Formats: sequence, structure tokens, C-alpha cells
Amino acid sequence: MPTPVTHLAIVTGTSSGIGAALATELLDRGWDVVGIARRPSAIEHPGFRHVTLDLGDTTNLTDAIERELGEVVSDPGIERLALVNNAAHIGLLGTIEQLDPVGLAEVYAVNVAAPIALSGWLLRRANPQTTIRIVDVSTGAATNPYPGLGAYGTSKAALRLAGMILAEELDAAEQGGGAPRDVSILSYEPGIVDTEMQGALRASTPDVIPLRDFFVELHREGQLAPASEPALEIASFLDAAVVPRHTEARLGG
Ligand SMILES: NC(=O)c1ccc[n+]([C@@H]2O[C@H](COP(=O)([O-])OP(=O)(O)OC[C@H]3O[C@@H](n4cnc5c(N)ncnc54)[C@H](OP(=O)(O)O)[C@@H]3O)[C@@H](O)[C@H]2O)c1
Repeated sequence: MPTPVTHLAIVTGTSSGIGAALATELLDRGWDVVGIARRPSAIEHPGFRHVTLDLGDTTNLTDAIERELGEVVSDPGIERLALVNNAAHIGLLGTIEQLDPVGLAEVYAVNVAAPIALSGWLLRRANPQTTIRIVDVSTGAATNPYPGLGAYGTSKAALRLAGMILAEELDAAEQGGGAPRDVSILSYEPGIVDTEMQGALRASTPDVIPLRDFFVELHREGQLAPASEPALEIASFLDAAVVPRHTEARLGG
């Protein structure tokens, strides 16, 4: 990673899909990027660093991220710091009647506990003068009751609300006399995107995902967006000079 670093993005889930496309887009725009995933990343760029981490291992998450990035993110030379909570666990498909509690806790660890922990750690650790942008990658399943997506949808609903609560807490801290901080949060729905995640939905069966044939049909009709499209929109948010404390957006809207 070349020095000095002024724009640094931590993006989770950069081994495939939207996370990989976003990391590439940000590198093209001159950002330095730290990517987090269990598998390696195909990205080779002097501004890119891959950190191998299982976000489901919540017991060790804070220590691991502190060890890897604590000094980097607290550097006062960083003008703009981004955290994109993009990684998600969609492994546990099935109706509420079928859901196993151990699997459910694993989904919540990756989709809720890890992004909340990373956001809190970043706010505690970053220089207070640094501009911070947090993006929580959401889904239509966070606000619509899609059958068979109970584990995933409820986890994303929790993450969406966590971002809203964080924004309120930041406002309350300032109103209580704390120093103003330029911190903003976006909850972003990428639409239906041609990634491994969609492949997993199509590979399922209608008894597990009653909407499975809908996803198969969208794919057959070529209606899935390429990962570069949401990547472009998220990167534009991260580059924007002024944004509200909390926003919600969806691909193309
Ligand atoms: N594709 C869609 O249609 C769609 C629609 C709505 C929302 N989304 C959201 O978009 C985001 C990106 O998904 P995608 O579509 O790009 O799917 P994807 O290609 O399957 O990417 C998921 C990423 O999450 C990472 N990940 C999963 N579990 C992890 C763990 N325990 N620790 C670390 N990293 C982990 C994966 O890396 P490793 O496996 O290497 O760890 C991978 O890089 C997700 O938040 C998803 O909910 C996607």
C-alpha cells in the first residue's frame, strides 16, 4: 500500500461479487482498499491489501481487526475512511418452520454481529477528524417477508435498524455537547445482482425457497444487474462531499 494513504476503504466480502467489483472501482478512483474474506482475492493492485478473516468468528473479531488495522485507521493523515459491510452469509435457506438455531446464530454472527462490531470499532479507533462513511449492504428481503429467506431477511433487517440507531446515537452525542464528527451511514439495496449469491438461490429447491423459480426466471431473462452497477453507486456515495447522517438507497434509485 503506497504512502501517504488519504482515502482508505475497508470492504468485507472482496473475494467475489459486489465486494470484488467495489474494491476494483475504488482502486480505479485512487482509494486504498483493505479487503476482508475467508478466500483469497483475485485483485492485484499496489493499493489493495487482502486480510483473511472469518467474520463468523465473533470471539476473535475485534482482536484480529485491531491487530491488522488498528494503527492504519487511526493515522491522522487519513482524510476519508470507509467501511463497507458487504459480506453476507446466505447459507441457511429455508422456511421459518425448518430453521435450525445453530445455523441461525451463524448467519446472525456474519450478517449482524460482525458489521455492528466493525462499525463500532472503527468509530472508536479512527481519528475524530477523519471523515467516515459506513455502508451496510442491505436487501429487499430486509423489508419484505420473502418465504424461505427468514434467516437472511431477519439478519439484514437487524443490520438496517442498527445503522439507523447508530445515526441517532451520533446525533445525540453531538447534541449532548460532543465534538461534531463527519460520520454518515448508508443502507444500500443492490437490487438483484449476478453473483454467487444468486447462484445459490437458483441451486435451491422450491420447498426450501418458494420463490426459487422467480430467481431462475429473472436469470433466464437476463434481468440480473452486473456487480459493477451497485459498485459504482456505492463508490459514488463514498466519494460524495456532503451526505446526510443516514440514508437509504437502492440500485438505480
Ligand atoms: N446478489 C444479489 O442479488 C444481492 C441482492 C441483495 C443484496 N445482496 C447483498 O450483496 C452483498 C454481497 O453479496 P454478493 O451478491 O456479492 O454475493 P457473493 O458473491 O456470494 O459474495 C459474498 C461475499 O461475502 C463473503 N463472506 C461470506 N461469509 C463470510 C465470512 N464468514 N467471513 C468473511 N467473508 C464472508 C464471501 O467471501 P468468502 O466466502 O471468501 O469468505 C464473499 O466475498 C451481500 O451483503 C448480499 O446480502 C446481494
